[in-house]
Amino acid sequence: MIPAKLIEKKRDGFELSAEEIEWFVEGTVENKIDDCQLSAMLMAIYFNGMSDSETFSLVSSMINSGEKFKFNNFGKYVADKHSTGGIGDKISFILSPILSSLGIIVPMIAGRGLAYTGGTIDKLESIPNFQTSINVKNFKIQIQNIGCGIISQSSEICPADKKIYSIRDLTGTIPSMPLICSSIMSKKIAEGLDGLIMDIKVGNGAFMKTISEAKTLATELKKIGSAFEIKTDITFSNMSQPLGRYAGLGCEIIESINCLKGDGPNDLIELSLELGSKILLQSKKANNENEAKKKMLKTIDDGSALKKFEEMIIAQGGNFEQLQMSQSNIKNELYICSDRGGYISSMDTEKIGWALVEMGCGRRRDKDPLDFTAGIRFNVKVGETVKKGEKVYTLFGENIKKLESAKSMLHKTFKVSSETILKPKLILS
Ligand code: URA
Repeated sequence: MIPAKLIEKKRDGFELSAEEIEWFVEGTVENKIDDCQLSAMLMAIYFNGMSDSETFSLVSSMINSGEKFKFNNFGKYVADKHSTGGIGDKISFILSPILSSLGIIVPMIAGRGLAYTGGTIDKLESIPNFQTSINVKNFKIQIQNIGCGIISQSSEICPADKKIYSIRDLTGTIPSMPLICSSIMSKKIAEGLDGLIMDIKVGNGAFMKTISEAKTLATELKKIGSAFEIKTDITFSNMSQPLGRYAGLGCEIIESINCLKGDGPNDLIELSLELGSKILLQSKKANNENEAKKKMLKTIDDGSALKKFEEMIIAQGGNFEQLQMSQSNIKNELYICSDRGGYISSMDTEKIGWALVEMGCGRRRDKDPLDFTAGIRFNVKVGETVKKGEKVYTLFGENIKKLESAKSMLHKTFKVSSETILKPKLILS
């Protein structure tokens, strides 16, 4: 087959066969397809979409590009949560230890930052020496020993997603239904899951800007889940403002640890409980949502979830004390203050995400270095009051030039109203 011919076929709106898709994906992994050809194919898919059978072939080829875990011999329910991406979303660090300390196996494969959204793997790598590309054999041993772990796609597991994901990040081809579905579901199916809870983010900081787009994505994800015999539940959550009080890299790990110590912001706890309760119901570890949430809160109260997260950090080589030290010694802080008093009525979350990329929390180009110390504290959020001159955002990090440039992007990213504004609902359905 000739790569350019397949690109032309997709560009002109024709359907690719299963063999053609498999050949293209294999070629991508074996470096027989150039990055420019992969980019062109992704753009053709972005504009023309894919039929159900094309999407299924893409998912299968992406799974088959690497190994697939099998944990069902452990006799425990194997489950995971995945989100479609947002700003300040650190739920994975809170939820996996909670679920794992309740006897669920959580073998998470996650990704790096995509466009303006933060990446689970980039955040974890802010913990000095934390290993995100563990080989399959050692990861299985870790899961057997402690029940949870978070790794990235690698040459062994989901290599096709690793490559396609990084090219999508750089080429404006992220918000495409078949590309999102195949990226998410290939990773989740490779994990050998019994059950999955999908957190579909909706709003101005999400890839799905409207609930109707989010519902279409939900239908597609559920179709793939059921074809691969994974119980798939969906939650729609509001991403029209950042989640939690912090967004960035190391600061999100610290905020997650605080949550596990029982000292986290309400929105993080609310969403973690909502998502986790679906897994406890699927696995029959709880009979109703109330019971599920109580069980989860108990793992925070008795310290077992925190202990599990610490075990995971140690198992993956990380040094949490060093992260704490570097976060408490950050040199620079800049502020964005309100020029009037009132209620914060909205935030431009996507722009905030791009400012975070500018600060070094994400990449514009493949080799861009990250600044693990950088982040933003949201001192006030939608529905809260602010006084004239009060700090709305605190920007921090090692590189003052980058902070200044991010600051100039952030000026018009929130609105203040003199009318009372209610706190927006976090769980949309
Ligand atoms: N998460 C993924 O893993 N892939 C996407 O395309 C979007 C969110």
